[in-house]
Amino acid sequence: MTTLYEGAFAKLNLTLDVLDKREDGYHNLQSVMQTVSIRDDIEIDVGTGKPWTLACDREGIPCDSSNLAWKAAEVFQEFSKKDLGGIAIRITKRIPSQAGMGGGSADAAAVLRALNAHFDYPFSIMALAELGAQVGSDVPFCVLCGTAMVEGRGERLRKLPDMPKDCVIVVCKPDFGVSTPELYRKIDQTAIAHRPDNRAMESALLEGDLGKVCAQIYNVFDPLVTEEHLEMNYIKSIMNSYGAIGFQMTGSGSAIFAVMPNFEYAAVVCNMLKENYPEVYICMPV
Ligand code: C5P
Repeated sequence: MTTLYEGAFAKLNLTLDVLDKREDGYHNLQSVMQTVSIRDDIEIDVGTGKPWTLACDREGIPCDSSNLAWKAAEVFQEFSKKDLGGIAIRITKRIPSQAGMGGGSADAAAVLRALNAHFDYPFSIMALAELGAQVGSDVPFCVLCGTAMVEGRGERLRKLPDMPKDCVIVVCKPDFGVSTPELYRKIDQTAIAHRPDNRAMESALLEGDLGKVCAQIYNVFDPLVTEEHLEMNYIKSIMNSYGAIGFQMTGSGSAIFAVMPNFEYAAVVCNMLKENYPEVYICMPV
């Protein structure tokens, strides 16, 4: 038996645009995604000779075959034709749940990366990302990591220049969660007034200009969630008052992130928000 260790990194959506609805019921997206340093830790015992198990230190996370990490191992076994010989997956959770930070997808991607390395890379990184699409929409990006343009349902990836690293990011997860399917239903009935300019975002990344990148941060879901949860405005006003260069909800929410110019400013925003919210984090783009 061998034990594998892999980090599972959270993502933020710097931009998120929802395009047309597809025949399979999903929506085509166009999103610039960014990996950040908030991470879960994954341990996998391979070759246990026993039935598969999964354990997680956070309550409410499914510990059976419905967990994306388990599905990832199934998909890897099926497509690589490698016999895993029984596995035990352990997840140490730090990525907030129901936040729009791809926590479950990050775990699944980490399982794919760890198994791929263990079996001496039967898949290239792009083939592994493609395999990830069988597990969930955000998994391909979580396999690739860094900064990327994500299109289709999440399966079409294009690496972009890294987000400028001269910043610190504060993430605040309010107490409420958002139902992703309901939000997609709502956006189908809404005329989208403003959309992100992904070409301008790409140019800003090419220039490596943090101010220009932050000026292009925009998520079409943000106003839909904010109109139902006005406390989002309170969180954003704290971020804005204390020097955020850009701020926005990530994914389908409900976490909001702020790009801060340095650690000192980030610490002030973090302390202010902690007075009302237990889940506030400081992280970096990676
Ligand atoms: O990918 P995830 O399981 O988070 O998606 C949850 C739901 O969100 C899907 O069942 C679908 O209703 C909606 N969705 C969508 N288009 C996407 C991603 C999600 O319509 N690209």
